[in-house]
Amino acid sequence: MHPVHDFDQDANRRGTDARKYDPALCPEDVIPMWIADTDFCCPKELLDAMAERVRQGHFGYPYNDAEFGQAVAHWQKERFGWDASPEWVDFAPGAVMPLLYGIRAFSAPGDKVLIQTPAYPPFYALVENNGRRVVRNPLKLINGRYEIDFEDLERGLADLRTRVMLLCNPHNPTGREFTPEELRRIGELCLKHHVFVLSDEIHGDIVYGGRKHTPFAAVDPRFAGNCCIAVNPSKTFNTAGLRTAAFIAPDPNVRALMLEQRMNNKAFGRPVFGALSVKVLYRQCGYYADQMLEYLEGNIRLVEESLSQCRGVRLVKPEATYLLWLDCRELGLPQPELMRFMKEKAKILPNDGETFGREGVGFVRMNVACPRATVERAMSQLKRALDKEA
Ligand SMILES: Cc1ncc(COP(=O)(O)O)c(C=O)c1O
Repeated sequence: MHPVHDFDQDANRRGTDARKYDPALCPEDVIPMWIADTDFCCPKELLDAMAERVRQGHFGYPYNDAEFGQAVAHWQKERFGWDASPEWVDFAPGAVMPLLYGIRAFSAPGDKVLIQTPAYPPFYALVENNGRRVVRNPLKLINGRYEIDFEDLERGLADLRTRVMLLCNPHNPTGREFTPEELRRIGELCLKHHVFVLSDEIHGDIVYGGRKHTPFAAVDPRFAGNCCIAVNPSKTFNTAGLRTAAFIAPDPNVRALMLEQRMNNKAFGRPVFGALSVKVLYRQCGYYADQMLEYLEGNIRLVEESLSQCRGVRLVKPEATYLLWLDCRELGLPQPELMRFMKEKAKILPNDGETFGREGVGFVRMNVACPRATVERAMSQLKRALDKEA
């Protein structure tokens, strides 16, 4: 029997080093609902394993044991049914790092990198700060769901300077889990136009409504040879500060190029606690992920019900992630006013939609990975503020 994790219990992060609660950004009377980590305590198995490691009393360079890759492959097989080989896996200090390695390995300065917008803000920086250019493939909001404009996608991929596509699946911030059919179309187009795929699957554990996450490489062996996948248990288990990520590159040449980039960036040493966490979480904590998913579905239902009684703010119903994309365009507020309204009137702090690109104007992204009571408080504050505004 697995333990039952109490997600109603708040990890009480205010006053700790938690960035989400940085008092310079989020005063005491404002509920922080921005950066993508949770307000839940980590699984007990992890805390116990870390305490035991602390008792060893030494933290010199660790060696690269095979268990790390085995744990990552085990999770992929057990959760998503993908037979990834442990040999395809290596450590990365964060899920963003393999994206950086891939951009540097598979494109040259002046080349273009395609991203589907609105997009996780560091995607723009990764491309532009490395002297590459962004090609946008805006997702289209149709009847409350974001859809891929495949014609536009092919135009972008067909540009001879486009060398890499940064795929984000599940997609932050729109909450889409792309279907195997959509992934197949993306994969075929990338092969046709010789574009390498970097697939950021950091949110892959958090997929709702009986859907299952599809690793891009699992769709077709030809896609597996033309991609590198980034994963990190951090979004699920609240371990972002431990640097727990990995990349999975089925093709040996791709792997070699990724490792070369990692070496060049002097980021090859596994952190003791990050590597330990990957092994414990991916081997022992599936039950926690299952229970959290169910809890989050309850939080999302609550937001949906509350917003159905509110004027001017609509939920883009997520298929994945605990990051809710709220369409506030009906309020008609310029973006700085919208953010001021959220923080000063509703007393909640979501992410500013505009930081995800121009398609995010009129939107905010709200993180609901917190105890139900916090979501209830946030929703009643928002409703009250909206009622007053009306
Ligand atoms: C899509 C996506 N990729 C990557 C990251 C960050 O990953 P890491 O902290 O492991 O670099 C986030 C965090 O919010 C994210 O949403």
